[in-house]
Amino acid sequence: MEVTVHNKAAIRGVASYIPDNRLTNEQLANDFPEWSVDKIYEKTGIKSRPIADETETCSSMAINAAKKLFAKLSVTADSIDFILLCTQSPDYKLPTTACIIQNALGVPTSAGALDFNLGCSGYVYGLSIAKGLIESGQSKRVLLLTSELYSRYINKKDKSVRTLFGDAATATLVEGVKSENELLGSFVFGTDGAGDRNLIVPHGGSVHPLNSDSFSEVCDKSGNFRSSADLYMNGAEILSFTLKSVPLLVTNVLSKSAFDIENIDKVVFHQANKFMLDKLRKKLKFTEDQFLVSYRDYGNTVSSSIPLGLELAEQQNLLRKGENVLLCGFGVGYSWAGSIITW
Ligand SMILES: CC(C)(COP(=O)(O)OP(=O)(O)OC[C@H]1O[C@@H](n2cnc3c(N)ncnc32)[C@H](O)[C@@H]1OP(=O)(O)O)[C@@H](O)C(=O)NCCC(=O)NCCS
Repeated sequence: MEVTVHNKAAIRGVASYIPDNRLTNEQLANDFPEWSVDKIYEKTGIKSRPIADETETCSSMAINAAKKLFAKLSVTADSIDFILLCTQSPDYKLPTTACIIQNALGVPTSAGALDFNLGCSGYVYGLSIAKGLIESGQSKRVLLLTSELYSRYINKKDKSVRTLFGDAATATLVEGVKSENELLGSFVFGTDGAGDRNLIVPHGGSVHPLNSDSFSEVCDKSGNFRSSADLYMNGAEILSFTLKSVPLLVTNVLSKSAFDIENIDKVVFHQANKFMLDKLRKKLKFTEDQFLVSYRDYGNTVSSSIPLGLELAEQQNLLRKGENVLLCGFGVGYSWAGSIITW
């Protein structure tokens, strides 16, 4: 019997750009003597975080990641027909950073390019959009970028967020291949904007345009200083949202994809921090071998954390061709998404 072969979207490769500048636990313990080097490491699992310097931008980091990807895969910019950029720290409010990147990389002017504003769930959403573009015949080769510089929104006197977040960019090439099987699996999404207050930069948008009050700092009960133009996180609320929504997300992805937990070779979750990921791993009963972690030298790099985890796992030979990998992104919004991909 003749087998029908379909054009399926697949990940051809991933590369990252990591700023050289690092924020270590030693520097943090120096700034916040109430938290020791060991205390920060034991709680967060993070040793140091890359922090963009003042010359680095959303576009410059994404361009560097894309150039590394092109070199790795021997692909040229003129073969790209769509750029998707996930970021919450764009170069400007307008124009769209993906347009700036198109020009800098030399991607043809016939290509589509757009930014989408999502955080920790964004990479999985990006894969889904890329799959839609490819499998509907609108695109052949999508450059999916993530580039995040939360450090630009973090007050240096706020240890609650400064200990957790790092800056990074990634580039993923998604293209159509002949396959009988789904290679970027069924996607499950979730949204609950009722959590909007719990991870927010309150001023600078259309609700509260920047004004003279935006930069006045207040001190919270834990001794952290921040202004309304800075990032605010309610860690306890985000943790409780995650512990509720992620197990359900995993159940739904497995049942939609007709997979059992035992058939999953590897799991790459959004790399929030050790405290949260240990809880999720134990709750979901994933083994330590299945559950890949990469926060130690990067921290929480928002939408870059899953693709960075994939690239590092590939480099360390922890991820092999043909393995089934469960991806789950969750956080700011609230927003979450999951999928099973074949590497
Ligand atoms: C931030 C988070 C690690 C804090 O943990 P928590 O247990 O809820 O924190 P609490 O404020 O109740 O403090 C408990 C202890 O942890 C310590 N602690 C809290 N955050 C810490 C940090 N970043 N580094 C070191 N110690 C920390 C506190 O000082 C306290 O110590 P003590 O028992 O000696 O007094 C946790 O809430 C979390 O993972 N939230 C989700 C955050 C996140 O990743 N958001 C991004 C979007 S996904």
